Amino acid sequence: MIRSAVYPGSFDPVTNGHLDIIERTAKIFDKVYVAILENSAKKPMFSVEQRVRWIKQATKHLDNVEVDCFSGLLVNYMEQKSAHVIVKGLRAVSDFEYEFQMAHINRKLDRNTETLFMMTNNKYSYLSSSIVKEIAHHGGSLEGLVPDFLENEIYEKIRNA
Ligand code: PNS
Repeated sequence: MIRSAVYPGSFDPVTNGHLDIIERTAKIFDKVYVAILENSAKKPMFSVEQRVRWIKQATKHLDNVEVDCFSGLLVNYMEQKSAHVIVKGLRAVSDFEYEFQMAHINRKLDRNTETLFMMTNNKYSYLSSSIVKEIAHHGGSLEGLVPDFLENEIYEKIRNA
């Protein structure tokens, strides 16, 4: 049996914290779907095509990682992929309340769904996509926060916004 996991998120944009979770998850599962939410109420800054392209580029060394997007309920996407495990990264206690609610609601919607939490690497415990956008907006350095190839693309996009 193929053990598949889904790592869902907005990835607006992907950070080194996300990539750390993807690499570690890819060592545990046979197949990892990185699933980008398309219809987010959060009004993403970067297009879904751009976000897919960036994660594909950053994970091209991982054979068992597939980058995909979804809309609607996560559990419906999971069913399509015959996957039962959701992987989420936990940074701090502040993440817990929201993730607790999501894990329970997803379980309620599909009782076969399990959510596994992975502690974010200490190095990235302060990192988020919002922080990356804020730093870039104010012209700060993104070094070490996102893959190198992405730094200029993010600046470019913010400059033209
Ligand atoms: O990176 P994010 O923004 O924290 O990711 C949130 C995400 C995409 C995991 C979450 O919003 C999600 O799963 N959305 C899909 C809709 C859904 O299934 N919601 C849960 C039941 S209401």
